[in-house]
Amino acid sequence: MGGVVVRQYDIPANDFTVAGEASSNVRKILSQLGVSPDIVKRTSIAMYEAEINAVIHGNGGQALVEIDTDKIYIRISDQGPGIADLELAMQEGYSTAPDSIREMGFGAGMGLSNIKKHADQLKIDTEIDKGTTVNITVFFKPQTGV
Ligand SMILES: Nc1ncnc2c1ncn2[C@@H]1O[C@H](COP(=O)(O)OP(=O)(O)OP(=O)(O)O)[C@@H](O)[C@H]1O
Ligand SMILES: [Mg+2]
Repeated sequence: MGGVVVRQYDIPANDFTVAGEASSNVRKILSQLGVSPDIVKRTSIAMYEAEINAVIHGNGGQALVEIDTDKIYIRISDQGPGIADLELAMQEGYSTAPDSIREMGFGAGMGLSNIKKHADQLKIDTEIDKGTTVNITVFFKPQTGV
């Protein structure tokens, strides 16, 4: 693998027919590049959760993906309502998803904690009425200690 692969995606709001397409595409690219299945899985789960959150909670948004030789960086941003209490939102089981969303199988309140679990680095910037940006990094090789 040489150089950096950069991809950008639009994430449509509340459209469940195409929700998950960006993370699915990135999964394919990583597999084709020969990234190990475990890393591909962790990356696509983390990206999928952030992507779906932008669809459901963020009024849609954008994804930027940079694949380097040693890591993948993913930025999912939206211009939605923002998250009032990020610490609370990060807790397993916390969700503001309405019944209509829960009926489709979302809204268990597990997405953000799943991202945290699968990403090597996670930074979330959010501001009320401005939007939310989720920055995810996954390294291709285990990081050795400090
Ligand atoms: N991009 C976002 N914009 C606004 N609020 C968000 C965003 N992402 C998450 N949240 C808030 O954080 C809560 C927790 O998010 P999380 O992904 O953990 O659970 P969920 O999306 O409700 O359910 P699940 O991911 O299990 O389907 C959401 O219910 C919502 O209130
Ligand atoms: Mg979620």
